[in-house]
Amino acid sequence: MTSISTLVPTYATVNLAALAHNLSRIKRYLCPGCEVMAIVKANAYGHGAVEIAQSLARQGIGQFAVASLDEGIELRLAGLTASIVVLGALFEEQIADLIAHKLTPVVSDGRILPTLAKAAHSQPAPYPIHLKVETGMGRLGFSLEELLTVLDNPLLHSPLKVEGLMTHLADADGADSTFTERQLESFNALLEQIRLRGLTVPLVHAANSAAIVRFPAAHFRSCARASCSMGITPCPHQYQIPTSDPSSHFTPQSPNCGPFHRGPLSAITEHSSRNDRPASRYCRSAMPMAIAGGSPIADQS
Ligand SMILES: Cc1ncc(COP(=O)(O)O)c(C=O)c1O
Repeated sequence: MTSISTLVPTYATVNLAALAHNLSRIKRYLCPGCEVMAIVKANAYGHGAVEIAQSLARQGIGQFAVASLDEGIELRLAGLTASIVVLGALFEEQIADLIAHKLTPVVSDGRILPTLAKAAHSQPAPYPIHLKVETGMGRLGFSLEELLTVLDNPLLHSPLKVEGLMTHLADADGADSTFTERQLESFNALLEQIRLRGLTVPLVHAANSAAIVRFPAAHFRSCARASCSMGITPCPHQYQIPTSDPSSHFTPQSPNCGPFHRGPLSAITEHSSRNDRPASRYCRSAMPMAIAGGSPIADQS
């Protein structure tokens, strides 16, 4: 069967100087020693994961995160040597490839640990994993109690090692900070329990883009996960979306696609569990692809 695409041919122009500008803005919010883990999932929100990651790596970013195994492998095959964390769940059949490409899994379910440990035996050093705890996002993660039990698993000392502990804030860009504060309270209580057991986890990460800007208490002096270097305005209720100097814009290739806006777009990706807002709040036109990006982050300094 022949399928006819109804998509309008479109190319995106990505301004890497705007990306660098946005990264420098993000870093200003972070305390010294707190690193940025760049989220480049979904092809860096449509900007081109390889090009974006390579550009950010040249600017000193040493940690990246993707959603799936294939996204991580794509970056490795392109030559990225930095740490790459796979945020999404993994099937047991994917573990051999994960380890062959030195990708770091986020573990949200203890049933995968024996398979991971078996595959990691071939490695010269304990293999890094991150554990995810569910504090309110309603997606992936151990409950607080489960997490404490999992930490007793001897596999987490060898051949695996817990390099990171994370949670995902569901509403850091919401007008009311109560939910985020509650999530951080739960996460902090867990960290205290871990400390009392004499355990240390090198990377503790909770802040997403909005929390980088709004919740310094979520930075944890180690690492913050940001997609906003792509130009997604993290806190729209507080900050006006700038319209100049975009990091990307879109041009329909065909001259006869009149209704499409030519020019910068802002964020259209929506992954929060909140459902009280439209996914395309800042999209200036309906584009035939899911992509986020566009405006530089407002300079708050
Ligand atoms: C676990 C996790 N952390 C951080 C982010 C980045 O979130 P934001 O776009 O709000 O910065 C994502 C993106 O989906 C994510 O899945």
